[in-house]
Amino acid sequence: MSTLTGRHIVVTAGPTHEPIDPVRYIANRSSGKQGFAIAGALAALGARVTLVAGPVTLPTPPDVDRVDVETALEMNAAVNAALPADAAVMVAAVADWRVDPSTQKIKKGANGPPTLHLVENPDILATLARNPRRPRLVIGFAAETEHVIEHARAKLARKGADWIVANDVSGDVMGGDANTVHIVSADGVESWERLPKGDVATRLADRIAAALG
Ligand code: CTP
Repeated sequence: MSTLTGRHIVVTAGPTHEPIDPVRYIANRSSGKQGFAIAGALAALGARVTLVAGPVTLPTPPDVDRVDVETALEMNAAVNAALPADAAVMVAAVADWRVDPSTQKIKKGANGPPTLHLVENPDILATLARNPRRPRLVIGFAAETEHVIEHARAKLARKGADWIVANDVSGDVMGGDANTVHIVSADGVESWERLPKGDVATRLADRIAAALG
């Protein structure tokens, strides 16, 4: 069996929260369960794991170094600060946009609802894949509700990842305990049966160990 002793792997997990004002935020739906399970499975194979976690209420898996962040900009900075790494697994559901936040709570008033000016967040995965200090193996996730493989193939190319773990979220995956995934790479597509998130994590960790050799 391959091990990951001596390897450093960065994992992102959970959502990001993008503040609108001190009491409100924009967020994606993500429990963080799959990313935390992957971080735990990699550590169990002996890797040094840096888990960059958005706001979730999950316990840190054993032997994992956790860095808590709130926003996409903070997550991007934490991933860069964690380099160098042998591999990166980007499981976080990063908010695509942020707001230039108000320092004071926005009050309801005579002016009607506020207009939010959205600014695009950096694509953390794509930025890392093009970084001169790019980890040897860069893995992204893609949550899709339709044309799962087709969209994953497009993301693989667009983001410069080595593998995309395509996640069929048309069922009850969000917050659930099982996942149906397809590993999409230049070598083709490997489809796994519906598995508990813990088993997806273990299999993926084994596959990463084999790929790093
Ligand atoms: N991702 C990222 N930074 C972002 C957006 C996404 O690192 N700002 C990563 C996710 O962690 C995931 C992969 O990119 O590994 C795909 O995320 P997804 O939300 O499916 O992709 P998007 O680029 O948002 O594409 P779309 O909304 O068109 O499906």
